[in-house]
Amino acid sequence: MSELPPGLPPGDHAARDAITVSPVRGLPEFRPGDDLAGALAAAAPWIADGDVVVVTSKVFSKVEGRLVPAPTDVEARDTLRRELVDAETERVLARRGRTLIVAGKLGIVQAAAGIDGSNVRRNELALLPSDPDASAARLRADLARLLGVNVAVVVTDTMGRSWRVGQTDVAIGSAGLEVIHRYGGAVDSEGNELLVTEVALADELAGAADLVKGKLGGLPVAVVRGLVPVDDGSTARDLVRPLDEDMFWLGTDEAIARGRREAVLLRRSSRDFSDEPVDADALRRAVGVALTAPAPHHSTPFRFAWVRDRRAALLDAMAVRWQEHLEADGRPTDEVERRMRRGDLLRRAPELVLAFRTGEGMHSYPDDARRLGERTMFTVAGGAAVQSLLVALAAEGLASCWVGSTIFAADVVRRVLDVPADWQPLGAVAVGMPVEAIEPRAPRDAAEGLLEW
Ligand SMILES: Cc1cc2nc3c(=O)[nH]c(=O)nc-3n(C[C@H](O)[C@H](O)[C@H](O)COP(=O)(O)O)c2cc1C
Repeated sequence: MSELPPGLPPGDHAARDAITVSPVRGLPEFRPGDDLAGALAAAAPWIADGDVVVVTSKVFSKVEGRLVPAPTDVEARDTLRRELVDAETERVLARRGRTLIVAGKLGIVQAAAGIDGSNVRRNELALLPSDPDASAARLRADLARLLGVNVAVVVTDTMGRSWRVGQTDVAIGSAGLEVIHRYGGAVDSEGNELLVTEVALADELAGAADLVKGKLGGLPVAVVRGLVPVDDGSTARDLVRPLDEDMFWLGTDEAIARGRREAVLLRRSSRDFSDEPVDADALRRAVGVALTAPAPHHSTPFRFAWVRDRRAALLDAMAVRWQEHLEADGRPTDEVERRMRRGDLLRRAPELVLAFRTGEGMHSYPDDARRLGERTMFTVAGGAAVQSLLVALAAEGLASCWVGSTIFAADVVRRVLDVPADWQPLGAVAVGMPVEAIEPRAPRDAAEGLLEW
């Protein structure tokens, strides 16, 4: 006969049978310096080996003196609360109105660095315990000394979860239990291997205990019985996802600031692309961005041509023109051939977008000088639009290279693509997926190119 009662197979994080969650009644209102373990031992002498004692962090904040005197005036109290949040914050991840989501000194991401005024006197605010794992370990040792029991301790706080409405209690401190039950390699009853399942056991315990502690009844401690904890030396700190494993480690605040600064620095000339196809919507979005480039007289004097079917015809015709130019320069035949072979970037690129300066909105002048000035002004605006396209492509994760050759074969381009005579080619943009992820480069020192009078 099996030693174990019927139920789940060994290796599961769940209890083998029913669990009980019991509130500890009769605890005093704690103040700095109070003996928490002594009060607990007196109020719950029934605590036994294998129990998990789940304690609201606020209790530790109180006995450990993490209370800050606060004005009772609502505005002044809020001002102080915000100063305290600032002081406890390591990084701001997001803010909306008065709500701040921050990573605090414990690395935990939560609203207002866990500072709150609930269940404390109206002239006080409570900071989180400075080391909740140590608080848990001390209480565990004290209970072992006072009651002769081997228990686990979980310290909880209430917090919201990303992408989920509502708050639950989670473990911010713990001692004496496996905080994460890893199923790597285990097989379920259907024979499926559980590769990534890691149950946050300490958080589940915190949530379960909240079902009897509640928020209004002044019951800060509950005892979970029936789930024999395994002490693997882990602590609640192990539940904080390390930054290098966090796909969302940039909060919206930082991401927006960084995104603004780095979009331009993501652009570079890429002459090699991966085989992955270009997302047509991403390319269209980038062109939509480019069309917002500034231009004189409230015009949009540029157009982009996504050359698909006619690419070979266009490049062949441009090659003929280039060869004529090189031969007319008197270049030796072998050099002409060598140079002609080099121009294959536009053939290799997964997609090709040609840029044009159109004549739209251009003013006419009776004299050459102003006519040239006007044309230059519009051409410059076209250049800004191409740069906008390159930056927008980079922001979409697309690699690109601006190639100037269409500028030197303007009539050929106009003939093959059948575009109006006043459209001036501004080069072609080769577009593809990058061979490796594009990282922003460092900006250069402004002094290299900025003269300040
Ligand atoms: C108008 C223009 C024309 C260009 N033509 C070519 C070209 O024909 N072939 C090429 O490989 N790169 C071309 N480039 C890209 C430059 O060589 C590139 O911008 C320069 O090497 C700096 O590198 P980066 O873009 O990565 O900063 C051109 C750039 C501009 C602005």
